[in-house]
Amino acid sequence: MAVCKHYLLRIDPSLWAEIEKWAADELRSVIAQVEHILRDAVRRRGRSGRSADGDRGDQAAGRCAGRICAVRRRTSGRTPTEQDIGAEEAEMEELAPGIHCWTAPHPEWRPKTEEVVSYALVAGEALALVDPLLPAEDDARRAPLLADIDGMVGEAGRLELLVTNPYHTRSAETLYERYSRTLPTLIWGHPGVKKRLTRLAPLEVVPQSAAGEAAVIADGAAMAYTVGKPRRSEYPLYFPGLRAVVFGDAVVGAEGGVRFWNQSSGTGAAWYRDVFAPTLGGLAAQDIEYVLTTHGPPVLADGRQALEECLAAPPVEMY
Ligand SMILES: [Fe+2]
Repeated sequence: MAVCKHYLLRIDPSLWAEIEKWAADELRSVIAQVEHILRDAVRRRGRSGRSADGDRGDQAAGRCAGRICAVRRRTSGRTPTEQDIGAEEAEMEELAPGIHCWTAPHPEWRPKTEEVVSYALVAGEALALVDPLLPAEDDARRAPLLADIDGMVGEAGRLELLVTNPYHTRSAETLYERYSRTLPTLIWGHPGVKKRLTRLAPLEVVPQSAAGEAAVIADGAAMAYTVGKPRRSEYPLYFPGLRAVVFGDAVVGAEGGVRFWNQSSGTGAAWYRDVFAPTLGGLAAQDIEYVLTTHGPPVLADGRQALEECLAAPPVEMY
């Protein structure tokens, strides 16, 4: 067994307290938790191709993910101001060929304290916008972002507006109204999305399958997986042509990879591992390079491995 190196660590007491709480949640000693965090960070650094100079990893991770973290870093836990968030740019970012994203302040959960991610995926002749959220009308970032979307729509044969769960209906109806007169446009989602379409835009209801199975939607562009027991109103979306899966709320970017978001009181790690995770087994067996999350940074390499790790890991509290 290798001899461990001793190192005196100076650390902010409040950060140490957070690590102690984290260690207790995951049933580790604090030292073991620190080592776990560091190992995970080093592993992620290797996975993303980050070099010693640090540049390549940043490029691979994409500035989209960086922007999510940037607001957190700059505000250090306090409530971000309009200026904090406004300093972030909202332009479309290409994460990988055919995979683009942008961020905007979360509209409901904790207003303007969190940037969430929307995705624009080029799937054959279709442009798929997943959980699209536009910045507010008085936000300077809105116009340039819409110009970017206009350009992508102009090159597409059809537009598919895909909503992973009703809470993420967001700007789907606004975008439907903007583009449906110029090219074939559909909104896809759970029946609960209908209640959030306030101006009577039509909804293509995603067929619910048995837990763990998928329905092909959007004329073959995506597969919508039914997950959970009982079945959730959220459909993780797999895009075979892009080797990408997009999650709404079930799985979030956290701890250097992806993790279940523990939103249910009374359900612990064992429930997620034994009951919920098996319903994602079929999805996790797909050829996945990219795990795209609307909350937290995405995984942009070895996505299948990252998802398998998620299935075995304890859930996280996101906010
Ligand atoms: Fe959400």
